[in-house]
Amino acid sequence: MLKVEINGQQFEAEPGSTIIEVADSAGIYIPRFCYHEKLSVAANCRMCLVEVEKAPKPLPACATPVTDGMVVQTLSDIAKQAQEDIMEFLLINHPLDCPICDQGGECPLQDQAMGFGGSSSVFEEVKRSVDNLDLGPLITTEMTRCIHCTRCVRFGEEVAGVMELGAIRRGEDMKISTFLGTSMDSEVSGNVIDLCPVGALTSKPYRFTARTWELNGHTGISPHDCLGSNLEIQEIRGVVKRVLPRDNEAVNECCAPAGPHYGSLRPTSLAQYPAEHFREVGPLQE
Ligand code: SF4
Ligand code: FES
Repeated sequence: MLKVEINGQQFEAEPGSTIIEVADSAGIYIPRFCYHEKLSVAANCRMCLVEVEKAPKPLPACATPVTDGMVVQTLSDIAKQAQEDIMEFLLINHPLDCPICDQGGECPLQDQAMGFGGSSSVFEEVKRSVDNLDLGPLITTEMTRCIHCTRCVRFGEEVAGVMELGAIRRGEDMKISTFLGTSMDSEVSGNVIDLCPVGALTSKPYRFTARTWELNGHTGISPHDCLGSNLEIQEIRGVVKRVLPRDNEAVNECCAPAGPHYGSLRPTSLAQYPAEHFREVGPLQE
């Protein structure tokens, strides 16, 4: 085991683990957008920069393996300044859509801008805008909001097994696209809605029907797949507004098939959920 110091606390870590993994297991939060524990490391958002002793500049915690005796600061002036600068950079082209964005209230970008961003920007130029994509009946797009974290791209390639989305062009012209302008048809494509850390990919059936803080959540089991995927059913006064995957490492990990997201396959009231598939928190019974 390796000995690592984070913010003055000593931890033991497996060789090969990264700073963000050690910090997460110790309950030390490091901001992030592109990192997801189920996906490969892309390290392209740079939001997780931390100060590492003897390193000439801040390093991305998601892509930096720990070494024996490593000393990491996530709250030092250098780390905070790096995170604030990256947030300013990410917000250069992100529109101030929060009041009309379905992601508002559950948006990592919104939360981390509040927690780790500054209060002003030196950017005075015109923001870029990106055409939206028609990805089919499930996913609505606002691609100007995209921060190019590539979570959606990696999900398709590494989890769904179908590379439906990709990043084309470079620099300011980079955009996420389906290459041939097709829709997303994979049965697990709905998960990119939950993976997208900003409001670029949101649910079409749910669009503009509720604000996230109005919703009441109930645990449930998928009524339409043979896996028994764990779901969270969200409703207002008994009317189901949306259905999200619920983490269960033994069954569906953190994904769910697209079906529950679709209005056509989604019971519209709680009473319509088969009783055996809907229960308050508890283990799945035989
Ligand atoms: S659409 Fe969302 S998940 Fe995909 S790259 Fe853009 S911000 Fe990331
Ligand atoms: S979370 Fe580390 S670079 Fe994006």
